[in-house]
Amino acid sequence: MHCSTLVLLALCCLGVGLATAAATPGSAAPAAPANNLYLELKTFLRQVPKKQIQHLARAYLLNDVPFQAVIRELNSLASYRLRQQLLNQPELRSFLQWLSQQLILSGGSLKVFDTLELEIKLFNKYPHWAVSTEGVAGFENEFNFLYPAAALRELLETNAQQSAIFGEFWRRVVALKPAYERFIATPQAVAFSGRLRKLGVNVEAADQLVRYQLGWSNASIPSYDYNDYLGLNNAENY
Ligand SMILES: *[C@@H]1O[C@H](CO)[C@@H](O)[C@H](O)[C@H]1NC(C)=O
Repeated sequence: MHCSTLVLLALCCLGVGLATAAATPGSAAPAAPANNLYLELKTFLRQVPKKQIQHLARAYLLNDVPFQAVIRELNSLASYRLRQQLLNQPELRSFLQWLSQQLILSGGSLKVFDTLELEIKLFNKYPHWAVSTEGVAGFENEFNFLYPAAALRELLETNAQQSAIFGEFWRRVVALKPAYERFIATPQAVAFSGRLRKLGVNVEAADQLVRYQLGWSNASIPSYDYNDYLGLNNAENY
């Protein structure tokens, strides 16, 4: 649905998702598995380089006008309603209910996804941030450089093979694909993509990243070319 922060946002959505929705008793909770989904998920989420992504998002949010426009669009009323529409898809609702129950059974909760939430401070951490941003495409390039999509996908699949409950989690994530397809075809989602495209977001690449990351496609992200990166940016390291 969103720009390159899509995967993070998607995972965050899971977190904010149905915290308020009533769980349906008895719809899940099979015999207690030996594995601990909460701890496994927590360990997995730790592999997301959150700190670097937070620095990147903060540098762009504070200094980059085109990127700020994208964030304003993500925070518009229309986008808020779209997120609610996504969270109300029946498949996603039942997935989040199942996940919430499993996490509670293993001593946690959907709050495990709160660790992905970005905290943005008001001032630049480094002065060079003021002159080092390169628009929406610059953010996307740097995000792709930081975000280990292939490694995370591999880790999801490895975990799914080694743990019955994680396997069930991954199977249910992959099964959300038809709901995603239906959602992105709605007029509201199409209009949203159009608005993002107009603001310079590579919507197709974001869609491909989400599909690959969540197991809805095996087509990996086009490999990252470090030379392109050097050509586009001043090679700031975060
Ligand atoms: C991806 O590859 C695996 C293993 O070959 C296969 O089981 C799965 O169905 C594929 N997924 C998609 C979305 O094509």
